[in-house]
Amino acid sequence: MWTFASFVTFSSLITLVSAGYKIPQRSGFNLTWSDTFSQPGSVSSEWQYDIGTSYPGGPLNWGTGEVQRYTTNAQNIYISPNKQLNIIPLRNPRTGEWTSGRIETVRDGFKCQAGGEMIIESRILLPRGGRQEGVWAAFWAMGRRFRRKGNDGWPMTGEWDIMEAANGEDMVLGTVHCGVNPGGPCNEPNGIGGTTSIVRGIFNTYSLRVNRTLGDWQKQSLTWSMNGVEYHRIRGFDIGDSETWASLVHEPFFLIFNVAMGGGFPNAWARKDTPTAETTPGYGMLVDWVAVYNT
Ligand SMILES: *[C@@H]1O[C@H](CO)[C@@H](O)[C@H](O)[C@H]1NC(C)=O
Ligand SMILES: *[C@@H]1O[C@H](CO)[C@@H](O)[C@H](O)[C@H]1NC(C)=O
Repeated sequence: MWTFASFVTFSSLITLVSAGYKIPQRSGFNLTWSDTFSQPGSVSSEWQYDIGTSYPGGPLNWGTGEVQRYTTNAQNIYISPNKQLNIIPLRNPRTGEWTSGRIETVRDGFKCQAGGEMIIESRILLPRGGRQEGVWAAFWAMGRRFRRKGNDGWPMTGEWDIMEAANGEDMVLGTVHCGVNPGGPCNEPNGIGGTTSIVRGIFNTYSLRVNRTLGDWQKQSLTWSMNGVEYHRIRGFDIGDSETWASLVHEPFFLIFNVAMGGGFPNAWARKDTPTAETTPGYGMLVDWVAVYNT
């Protein structure tokens, strides 16, 4: 049976493998924001916790059918002594309730300037092992106007899913959401996504590059990479509507890390309801650092 202590042992083994990280330089770019999670304990004041099962007044279960309740408890979300953000879903053995963690940056001005480029990237470990049906880990971003307008603006306010992983599979998805739901230029509610295979149990770097080098919006792009290898690209002409593209690419965004349990995304991949009675608590996500670069 799983215990908290056994996960701590697992995560200390990981540290031996990954000690000595460093945020890479990006030639031609300036590092404009980063967090190396260097202060063990709770996250810094750069972050705010999302708590409960919805934004205030927002759709239930965070709009996706996910079943967990987000807490600020150190068992669910904490920075370990080895300077990694840990987000850990747990099941209350008495009630069966799942809890987990979700944080978003207070800052919501992450923006690619006209004529410029921006890279958002993070070094993340998705654990191997256990029964991970329903575990849904994500590194993503939403448009600032989602905060300003309340919950009514999505998906026109834009969403970049830089890395999503479900059910313990050896695969991640990079996706955008935009326009209207259902349907629209981003084929909602699915969005427009691409996948790449990954190795679990080690750190991998997941990046989104926003390219506004050219003024012609149809030739601007969003590019997803894993360990520097591109696997998905969307250009303005794929979206086909200048106003929707401007909402998706020219507006400022905020960043989010979370591990959900269950909901539409893992259920669709698993072709069944998740999490199941067999799902193993304690398998979430470790984050070594997150960085934003601009030209
Ligand atoms: C950015 O977009 C321009 C115009 O499409 C292209 O020429 C350039 O190669 C892109 N940069 C990268 C790094 O892909
Ligand atoms: C990086 O920042 C410096 C100082 O603000 C600026 O002079 C330089 O042009 C920036 N580099 C790029 C690639 O934007």
